[in-house]
Amino acid sequence: MLIALTSAKGSPGVSTAGLALVLSWQRRATLAELDPAGGEVLAGYGRAQLPAGGLGELAFAARRGGLEQQLFAHLLRLDEAGRALLLPGLVDPGAARGIDWNRLAAALTGLDEQGTDVLADCGRLRSERYPIPVLQRAAAVVLVTGSTLRAVHAAKLSIADLRTLVPEAPGGGGALCALVVGPGEPYSAREVGDALGMPVIGVLPRDPKAASVLSDGAPASRLFTQSVLLRAARTAAADLAEFAAARHDRLAPTPRPIPASNAGSSRGR
Ligand SMILES: Nc1ncnc2c1ncn2[C@@H]1O[C@H](COP(=O)(O)OP(=O)(O)O)[C@@H](O)[C@H]1O
Ligand SMILES: [Mg+2]
Repeated sequence: MLIALTSAKGSPGVSTAGLALVLSWQRRATLAELDPAGGEVLAGYGRAQLPAGGLGELAFAARRGGLEQQLFAHLLRLDEAGRALLLPGLVDPGAARGIDWNRLAAALTGLDEQGTDVLADCGRLRSERYPIPVLQRAAAVVLVTGSTLRAVHAAKLSIADLRTLVPEAPGGGGALCALVVGPGEPYSAREVGDALGMPVIGVLPRDPKAASVLSDGAPASRLFTQSVLLRAARTAAADLAEFAAARHDRLAPTPRPIPASNAGSSRGR
């Protein structure tokens, strides 16, 4: 399933949250860096790794057709086991102009068949060349927000916009949810959820040391995986997966096998 992460003005932390979540995901997952302003994981977490593959090359290669077939070959491993994968983002933000977000969103949704969920870092809401179709196809759209007065104010202003972009699921139950980075500054996660009128699927505490490993490739201590940030990310990842799965099933109900005795009849469905 495809899950979109985005942020409003005044709330940094969406890329760090995306990376923390993909490294904590229970199934295999791909972090797709779709921020039209460019990718940052290879430069930060990857410690200035030279860009290889990634969205820019994929979009270029796909001009000859076959985006779906080429997508998997453009993913990099974030861990030894290849449980966490990365579609590195654009190096040149200007290249966002040439990307067909609709086709890309469809191809990312198709990674399901390879047993891979996708967490798409869409960057700041409504930046230029924003990947709207990715939000529209996502089983969950996560607004990553801080808890300061300024952050909650900006998040609130973005909600009307989000609601027009993201359709309600046929059976009701919106795809929109919030992830609160640094709760208690001063608002609690519950207060943020109430103010935004959407469920809060998780909370990531302020943890500058662990965050700098993810955002800037700072050396990870032995205790990195047990840091408050990574522990919270594991809980948030499980809760987000559950939230998205409920809507994903409604979006694309799995065809139930028709028992042999019912074959040819419309009953039993
Ligand atoms: N939970 C956190 N605790 C402390 N610092 C954080 C946290 N999340 C992000 N940061 C820091 O905030 C800065 C911006 O984060 P980033 O994820 O790159 O923001 P964005 O992608 O929204 O621009 C980075 O320096 C990062 O280390
Ligand atoms: Mg970012």
